[in-house]
Amino acid sequence: MKITYYGQNCLGIEIKGKHILVDPFISGNDMAKGKVDTGEVKADYILLTHAHEDHTLDAEAIAKRTGAIIVSNFEIATYYQKKGIEVHPMNHGGSWKFDFGKVKYVIAHHTSSFPDGTYGGQPGGFVIEGERKNIYIAGDTALTMDMKLIPLYTKLDLAILPIGDNFTMGVDDAIIASDFVECDKVLGVHYDTFGFIEIDHEESKKKFYDAGKDLMLLEIGESIEL
Ligand code: NI
Ligand code: MN
Repeated sequence: MKITYYGQNCLGIEIKGKHILVDPFISGNDMAKGKVDTGEVKADYILLTHAHEDHTLDAEAIAKRTGAIIVSNFEIATYYQKKGIEVHPMNHGGSWKFDFGKVKYVIAHHTSSFPDGTYGGQPGGFVIEGERKNIYIAGDTALTMDMKLIPLYTKLDLAILPIGDNFTMGVDDAIIASDFVECDKVLGVHYDTFGFIEIDHEESKKKFYDAGKDLMLLEIGESIEL
């Protein structure tokens, strides 16, 4: 499994030759300028955690260019289906076996509306069981007790958690979340994109280190192999 960070909560995940794009917010992200090209990003599937613009801005254009299937909650899926895009609707607690692996849509505590005010259902996260590795993409969320359910059904190899605070968990709560999901290897997302969520990288990594955990912060465009 190869995971590339495209900024904010946007990730490119490659499993079994399939390209899964998560929360595409590229063209509106100044920090991604010159590092990622919305017109070249690959996608067979686009997973959307919730409807906020910093997660969905480029979804329609990329889906139309690539023919990717949008996977999200029922309301978001229906929203894109009306635009002629192929979708796979899910809802909390539900799993589906795709050709790249099993995906479960799990609880997130946040909000979810499109920029035009259209209702975007309830926000969620994804647990992906890939070929040999399992990951949890929390999406935008507060620390929640529901995270304790995840290790009951999936042994995680990586937890992708928001750490920017203000709109989501911050570093301290993300450390607790990592305990709840029983995964000490964390990829931090949802930080630095705008003023409210700027973090001190070294201090954040040290906090994780002191808790016996590993926080990875990737450059935009940088990849890791699991
Ligand atoms: Ni959000
Ligand atoms: Mn967000």
